[in-house]
Amino acid sequence: MPATLRAVQADLTTLAVDAIVNAANPTLLGGGGVDGAIHRAAGPQLLDACRPLGGCATGDARLTPGFQQPTRYVIHTVGPVWHGGDRGEAEQLASCYRRSLEIAAAHGLASLAFPAISTGVYGYPKEAAARIAVATVRAQVPAFPLIREVIFCCHTAGDLARYQRQLADS
Ligand code: APR
Repeated sequence: MPATLRAVQADLTTLAVDAIVNAANPTLLGGGGVDGAIHRAAGPQLLDACRPLGGCATGDARLTPGFQQPTRYVIHTVGPVWHGGDRGEAEQLASCYRRSLEIAAAHGLASLAFPAISTGVYGYPKEAAARIAVATVRAQVPAFPLIREVIFCCHTAGDLARYQRQLADS
C-alpha cells in the first residue's frame, strides 16, 4: 500500500502528525516565517534543544521534539537561498525533502508535514519548488514503507492550488 501524499491549507504548527518540517536557517536558532511560528508554538524549550545541535548545513536536517505543539517531533531542514538557479539550488532543495524523509524513517515515524521550503524569505520560485517537493517525495517515499502519510502544508490558497496541480500531474 503506497503512502498517502496530500496537500492541505493550514498552519503547520497545528498539525497532529509525527513530525512537522521546519524551514530553518543554518544557525537553527530561529527566525521569521514558519521557523518563527514553530518556535513561538513550541515554546522556549525548542531553542534549548536546537542550541547543542551546532547548526545545520543547507540541504541537511536535524530532529528535535515538538514540545508544546501537537506534533511529536520537528525536523529542522535548511533550504537553499534562491540565486537564480545556477548554484545547485534545485538539488539542495530536493536534498531537504530526502534528508527529512530519511530522518523520519530512521525514527520510525509514520506521518510528516512539509511547508513550502525556501519559497518565502529564501525566494525560491513557488511553482518550481512545488514540483521539486512532490517529485522528490514521490520518488523517495517507496523506500521508506513505515512512512504512511506525507502532507504538503500550504499557508495560502494559492500555494494549495499549486500543490494540488503538482499532485494531480502524476
Ligand atoms: N504554516 C505553514 N506554512 C507557513 C507558515 C505556517 N505557520 N508560516 C509561513 N509559512 C510558509 C510561507 O508562506 C512559505 O510558503 O512557509 C513557506 C516557507 O517560507 P519561510 O518560512 O520564509 O521559509 P524560507 O523561505 O525557507 O526561508 C527560511 O526564513 O524564517 C527564516 O529562519 C528562517 O532564515 C530562515 C528563512
